[in-house]
Amino acid sequence: MPIALWLNEYCTGNDQVDREHQVLFHIVNSLHEAMGQQAALPILKDLLNTLATHTVLHFESEERLMQAHAYPGYDRHKQSHERLKAKVIALSQKFHTQGESAIEELTGFLAEWLVHHIKGEDQKMIRFFQEKANQASVLLPASGDR
Ligand code: FEO
Repeated sequence: MPIALWLNEYCTGNDQVDREHQVLFHIVNSLHEAMGQQAALPILKDLLNTLATHTVLHFESEERLMQAHAYPGYDRHKQSHERLKAKVIALSQKFHTQGESAIEELTGFLAEWLVHHIKGEDQKMIRFFQEKANQASVLLPASGDR
């Protein structure tokens, strides 16, 4: 049973962002499943590294988009990313010192955090990009007016 179930309501309307979110859901579920199957330590470590790498890449990709669109909520959104990265690092370290309970904590935390963040900050950000694009298209003269 997946711990992070993807629902259509999590779509933001930006294909790249949605694909990256689905990859993160997939990795969280793989990690959860590996824990359930009592996978060997190297497998868990690999999955943790994959999760950390994709999380950082995804945040960087959103942060580039926000900067490209001069998004006014950039600082707040980036801080939210930084807090999550710190949490992933802390729980990865806890895994190395205290073992697998840290992974359960991490997957449970991430499954909730992702939904909350996507339905809040991420959808708000993409709505801003879409509204900006709509306003720009209204301001452009139709081709017959030129
Ligand atoms: Fe999709 Fe802001 O993380």
